[in-house]
Amino acid sequence: MELPKHTQRRDFLKTAAVMSGSLLLPAVRCTSQATDSRIEVFPTQELGNISHNVYGHFTEHIGGVIYDGVWVGENSKIPNTYGIRTALLDRLKEIHAPIIRWPGGCFADSYDWRDGIGPAAQRPARTNFWETEPDARRLGEKGRQIFDDNSFGTNEFVRFCRLSGAEPYIAANLRSLSALDFDHWVEYCNSPAGSTAFAKVRAEAGFPEPFHVRYWGIGNESWGCGGNFRPEEYASEFRRFTTWVPEYDQDLQFIGSGPNNNDLDWTRGFFEELLGRRPYHVRQFTGWSVHHYSRTQGKRDALSFSTDEYYQLLQDAAFTERILQDQWAVMGEYDPNRRIKLVVDEYGPWHHAGTEVDPTHIFGQQITMRDAIATALTLDIFNRHPEKVSLAACAQLVNNLNALFLAHEDKFVATPNFHVFKMYAAHQDATAVGVAFSAPNIAYNANGKRARFWGLNGSASLKGKDLTLTVVNPHIGTPCDTEIVLRGAQYADAVVTVLTSEKINAHNTFEQPDTVAPQSKTLQASANPLRFSFPPASVTKLQIRMA
Ligand code: AHR
Repeated sequence: MELPKHTQRRDFLKTAAVMSGSLLLPAVRCTSQATDSRIEVFPTQELGNISHNVYGHFTEHIGGVIYDGVWVGENSKIPNTYGIRTALLDRLKEIHAPIIRWPGGCFADSYDWRDGIGPAAQRPARTNFWETEPDARRLGEKGRQIFDDNSFGTNEFVRFCRLSGAEPYIAANLRSLSALDFDHWVEYCNSPAGSTAFAKVRAEAGFPEPFHVRYWGIGNESWGCGGNFRPEEYASEFRRFTTWVPEYDQDLQFIGSGPNNNDLDWTRGFFEELLGRRPYHVRQFTGWSVHHYSRTQGKRDALSFSTDEYYQLLQDAAFTERILQDQWAVMGEYDPNRRIKLVVDEYGPWHHAGTEVDPTHIFGQQITMRDAIATALTLDIFNRHPEKVSLAACAQLVNNLNALFLAHEDKFVATPNFHVFKMYAAHQDATAVGVAFSAPNIAYNANGKRARFWGLNGSASLKGKDLTLTVVNPHIGTPCDTEIVLRGAQYADAVVTVLTSEKINAHNTFEQPDTVAPQSKTLQASANPLRFSFPPASVTKLQIRMA
C-alpha cells in the first residue's frame, strides 16, 4: 500500500535517527505537513470535573521506595521531618500531591498492619513479600528491603500524607488476613479519641485524634499476587470484607481489585457475581481499580532503546484509553447509575533492571524523556475521561518503576516525570472541555509489522477564564507547527511551558539534576487562532487566559 507523503518523510526521519546509532534528535523541521496540524478547543463543551485524585501516587514496601526513598529515620543526618525525607515533602507540595496509596502493591496482601504500630523498638522484623524476587535474591546485603523492621507503619504513613498535603489511601490485606483484621485497621485509624482499645494505642503513639482515612483498597491484584482468585471467588471475599465495616461518620470509599490491563472476563465475572445474582447494597463501593504497565518488545532497557521501541512504548501507554472505554462499558451493564468509577492505581512504563541508582532498589529504573511523554499522554487520557476516572496513582513515587524521584542516602533528584506532574497540576479540579487534535500519524515498525501512532494529542480544562491545554508531540525529530483555535472564545495572553530534550533518553542524575527541565515563556497576545510549534518529542502546557 502506498503511504501518504508525510508518513514516508517520517519513516526517513526515523531511519535517520536509528542509523546514526544515537538517540540524538535530527534538527529537521516539519514543513509542508506542519500546516496539517490543528487543535480546536471547545471551551463550552464541558466533559466533567477532573478530580484532583487523578494526580495521585503510590508507595510500596518494595526495594528503595519506603526505606531510602520516603523514610530516612528520625536520627538520620539526612534532612528529615519526623523521619521522612524533607526534600521529598517539599517537592510533593509543589505538585499538590492529592493522594498516596500504601503499603502495596503485592506487599499489601502479606502485610499485618499490627506489626507497624506501637513503639518502633518493639515492632517485629518480618520477611518482605519481595524476598522471592530474583533481584532481591541477588542482593549481598539484605537490609530492611528484605527484612522489614516495620519502622514505617500506619502512623508514619499517615504523617507522611499529612505533611505532603495528601490524603491516605490504604490497601488492605485480603489474601492473608481476615475481614475482622480489616475492620480493626479501620478502627485503629478512624475511631474517635479515647473510644476504643485501638484509639488508645494510637493515642499512646502521639495521635489521639482519628486519622480519618477514607480510601481503602480491598486487596491488590487479587487475580495474581493477591490470592490468585477467580473473579467469582474474589467477589465473594469482597462481599465479606465490605459488608460491615465501622464508619465513625466517615465517608468511606472502597476500591475493588480490578483487572490486569483490559481483562474483561475478570470485570464481568466479578460484577456478575457481586451485583448480578444477589442484591449488594454497600454504598461505599465506589472504585474499581485498573493496573496497566507499558512495556516494549526487545531488551526493554530504560536508557537504550530504538525509535521503534520508543513508539511501541507510547502505543502501549496510549492503550490505557481503550482499557477505560472497554471496562467502563462492562461496568455500566451492572451499575447503570455509575456509582462505581475507575481507579487506575498502578500505571507507567516498566523496563528491565539495570539502571537503578542502588542495587537495593528492586524495580528501580532511570526515568527518561520517553517515560515523561508516556506519563503525560496517560494523564491526558484521564483528563479526557473525567466521568470515568475518579482516582489514579502513578507506580511508583520514588526509586521504582515510573518514579518522580530518585534518592539514595543524602542524594535526591527529581525525574522528568516530576516536571510533568508539576505542569499538569493546573488540571486538578478543573472542568475538562472538548478538544480535537488533527495531525498526521507517525508510521513505525512494531515487531516486523507497519504500525501507526497519532501525531499530536492532549487534553484541555477550564477554571474560570484560565484554560489549560496540555499537548504531547511524540514525533522524534519533527516539530509540529500547529494552529490552535478556541471555538467561541478569544485569548488574551498565554504562557507556554515546554518539557523536551535533544535526546529522548535524556534523564536527570544526582550529578546533573537539570538535564531535563521545563522552559517557560509568555506568548504575545494576538488574534485567534494562536500558532505554536510543538518541539519534537515534547510535552507542552499552554496556560491561556481567555478574554
Ligand atoms: O508496582 C510493582 C508491582 O506491580 C506491584 O506490587 C503490583 O501490584 C504490580 O504487579
